Amino acid sequence: MPNKNHPFLNFQVDHMTLLVDPRMYNMVYIIFRIIFGVSKSDVIYEKKKEWITGTGERSMTYAVKIGANFEESEVLRNTIIAVVQPSEPESQPSHVREMLKTHVASAHWQHIALRTNDLLSFHKYAINRGVNFITPILKDKDEDVIQVFSGEWYLPGEKPSGLFFEFVQRNPSDLLLKKLEEHNRQSWFRDTTFLGLYGEKEREYQTKKVVPFINQELFEELYLKFETKNVWEIEEEDINKAEKLMLDYTKSKIAIK
Ligand SMILES: [Fe+2]
Repeated sequence: MPNKNHPFLNFQVDHMTLLVDPRMYNMVYIIFRIIFGVSKSDVIYEKKKEWITGTGERSMTYAVKIGANFEESEVLRNTIIAVVQPSEPESQPSHVREMLKTHVASAHWQHIALRTNDLLSFHKYAINRGVNFITPILKDKDEDVIQVFSGEWYLPGEKPSGLFFEFVQRNPSDLLLKKLEEHNRQSWFRDTTFLGLYGEKEREYQTKKVVPFINQELFEELYLKFETKNVWEIEEEDINKAEKLMLDYTKSKIAIK
């Protein structure tokens, strides 16, 4: 199993992000407050924006912490859910609105953030196996967290699914922060990572170029290899072959560049 060799693959769920229709937005808040036991101090984040000057601010997102944890050191064991609504005026495009519309859904789980103890190593490991990320590793200036966002999971040639992953590391060391700062200087001072991701997704949806989790060519190669098998027939040997295919694909891509 890879995670015995790679401790950075021992993921835990850090948070999840839910997209909702604007008519659900306040309702979800009320349900969290009453049914899920979220107190006012458990609302840990909110972002507002005035899209058109003079029309007033709208709430873009809020995040709530579910469950109490009495040991300070275990504060991260709480479950965090972030809620996002398409806050843009109707006249303006919105990838959040489009994601909901494509699913004919008033609520859609958009991403799950998995926490690792070594984001840099995981990032390299995933890139070497053909995984696409839509942002460099970002650091939120207000929060002690570094994070990166993957491409979406969807079938080649079909509509994007609106589902992707985030990978985070909490409390990164000063040394790691310095290393990262040298790595991607221009992204380092972004205001907040929420807006960074939001803007990137908006750009993808407007240009209709949504980055897939792995490239379509690689997806198809893997698909053809396993098309005729039942999932229980996929052996360790097959997994190793698939991994080799991913590694070789990435190597050949780098060679072309
Ligand atoms: Fe997130």
